[in-house]
Amino acid sequence: MAENRKIVVTSALPYANGDIHLGHLVEYLQTDFWVRFQKMRGNRCVYVCADDTHGTPVMIRARNEGITPEELIARSHAMHMRDFTDFEVAFDSYYTTNSPENRELSERIFAAMEKSGAVTTRTAPQLWCEKCGMFLPDRFVKGVCPKCGAEGQYGDSCDKCGSTYAAEELGSPKCTVCGGTPAVKDSEHIYFELEPFKEYLRKWLPEHTTSDVSNKLLEWFNEPLRGWCISRDAPYFGFEIPGHPGKFFYVWVDAPIGYIASLANWCRKNGERIEDWWPCGGAQSAETPEIYHFIGKDIIRFHCLFWPGMLHVAGFQTPSKVFVHGFLTVNGEKMSKSKGTFINARTYLDHLPATALRYYYAAKLGGNTDDMDLNLSDFVQRVNSDLVGKVTNIASRAAQMLQKKLDGTLAVLAGHDEELALLGKLRDGGASIARHYEDRRFNQAVVEICRLADAANEYFDRKEPWKTVKTDAEATRVTLTAALNAFRILAIYLKPILPAYADRAMKLFGETAWTWDSRDTTVEGIALGTYEYLASRIDAKQVEAMVAAATEKPAESGEVAHESRASKNKAKKGGAAECEGAPVPPLKPEVAFADFEKLDLRVGKVLSCETVPKSSKLLKFELDAGSLGKRTIFSGIRGTYAEPSELVGKEVLFVANLAPRKMSVGVSEGMILYAGEPGKNGGVLEPLDGVPAGTPAT
Ligand code: MSP
Ligand code: ZN
Repeated sequence: MAENRKIVVTSALPYANGDIHLGHLVEYLQTDFWVRFQKMRGNRCVYVCADDTHGTPVMIRARNEGITPEELIARSHAMHMRDFTDFEVAFDSYYTTNSPENRELSERIFAAMEKSGAVTTRTAPQLWCEKCGMFLPDRFVKGVCPKCGAEGQYGDSCDKCGSTYAAEELGSPKCTVCGGTPAVKDSEHIYFELEPFKEYLRKWLPEHTTSDVSNKLLEWFNEPLRGWCISRDAPYFGFEIPGHPGKFFYVWVDAPIGYIASLANWCRKNGERIEDWWPCGGAQSAETPEIYHFIGKDIIRFHCLFWPGMLHVAGFQTPSKVFVHGFLTVNGEKMSKSKGTFINARTYLDHLPATALRYYYAAKLGGNTDDMDLNLSDFVQRVNSDLVGKVTNIASRAAQMLQKKLDGTLAVLAGHDEELALLGKLRDGGASIARHYEDRRFNQAVVEICRLADAANEYFDRKEPWKTVKTDAEATRVTLTAALNAFRILAIYLKPILPAYADRAMKLFGETAWTWDSRDTTVEGIALGTYEYLASRIDAKQVEAMVAAATEKPAESGEVAHESRASKNKAKKGGAAECEGAPVPPLKPEVAFADFEKLDLRVGKVLSCETVPKSSKLLKFELDAGSLGKRTIFSGIRGTYAEPSELVGKEVLFVANLAPRKMSVGVSEGMILYAGEPGKNGGVLEPLDGVPAGTPAT
């Protein structure tokens, strides 16, 4: 049933400054299911994505690590690709927003926006950090909520009362990079005005999103739509705006344009024309592509207001539909680092097979904006009872019996009505499974596949081949052939969700490619291929180990002072950097002498020093601090001192007036000075002999 639709599909571009985690995968996996389904149906479908590379967080992180933003985004790109590949997410193009295509498209679209008259400039106050030498994005400033007075709130909205405000309205604002107090400074900015084509958007929204999404956005339409600020001041990692020196496109401008850039890159490599895949200007033909965005509910306004607005004024085709999904919860709660439920893709893969998560997510995803829960015990149970117990078991039992007892040759089913009826039933189920796939009700597709697997198992158990094999070899061969063909149909239906699994299953039948229509054939009269392992049971212990690996222990994460960011960076870069010596971190911003004087450094004599149970990093010190009394200090330098007792009796320097820090292992009352990198080089700082404990150091 070649449908021959031309379809462009996107997943939101993950930020280059973070790792892929199980929350992200809610999106990338469902998009992949859908794309693979479309391809199996014979449609021409292109799945594009990219790393979202621009913006302040990337710039700051690169600065902290002592590398360039380009180095940082290259590293992320490689790591993201590896995670996606291992999770069997098959992009046709996984590009970067920091590309020449994207720069050119961004400039072109912006020029069209300017020409349409929807671009204005005006001066607006913004928080400026003098020490960092930059305007602070909302997420880089914290202070007191102007509405409810809650402390530690970001510059855009309050976690406690939910109100939104401008960063300048925060009480006692602090720069989250340097801790300094920012000042309010005026700067000229460029705005994209939505009001001029409000009516276009009012009509567009309900036609291209579900009603819950459009109704929410339409609530804002009763008042004039506010312009969207699309410029950022230097220093900024991004594209400079032509004709506006020192101004850069806000990351959310060039990010969605990155979809087109990634597609353009795919076109160039595959001898296709971008105009045919994402038309611009001119009338739409019968060959008009369908364009679909998969996104999470947190980024609706960018994709359903600003983005169609930009495309509209620039004369580009707008998306056919924006598919919005909800957020991942784990065991019913928000993902949490301290509970070990904020799980990176790589951490998962270190403990469990990708197939299991793909299956479970499919079983839970219903194509709506509801949040999706990954219940870890349900996960183990579902994978084992359904994927392994129901579906895979048919193949493993039937194939092994056929091979061991009946020389591995399949029967011919003609004339065997009961068997043909069973297979007919499984084939008939395909139409409704396909509808569920098309409508992204993957959970319903899985329910129906499992129901068909029940029918196949019922048939198998009723026929009792393990008994008949002793008395009637040919009847048994027919039973096993029917069971294997039933399994084959199920594996075809599961292929969009479990591509690697389906490929292994396909080899059993000596085939090389499965489309949706492959379900109509019967494999019979030939020798079965060798049975390869398809999927094995998973164990709660693997899940426990994964959660343990993902758990961030406050004791260890608390003592970050010695685990320099440069060392983390080096570890990731691998061997080569090792020989070159540790990259020297950039100089921190200057501090006033008055600030330096606030530190009280003292000499302390080590009375005892011991390891801390369950911590690979910490040592517990008792210091004699002279007139200050005794001090307990936890320090993350165990890597250097395998034999902690060697430190007893030594004199060390420590920060004596640091606020006591509560750690899970106890309260730490100061910090011991150390030069170098614990576990690699260096050691504690020791004063020259003969200085009594408690002596100040300056
Ligand atoms: N870079 C932007 C998207 C730009 S698209 C032009 C971004 N990146 S992200 O890395 O934060 O998120 C990428 C996608 O993953 C988004 O669609 C987001 O909604 C989704 N998810 C991120 N965390 C998620 C969960 N915990 N649960 C479900 N989806 C989540 O936003
Ligand atoms: Zn600052």
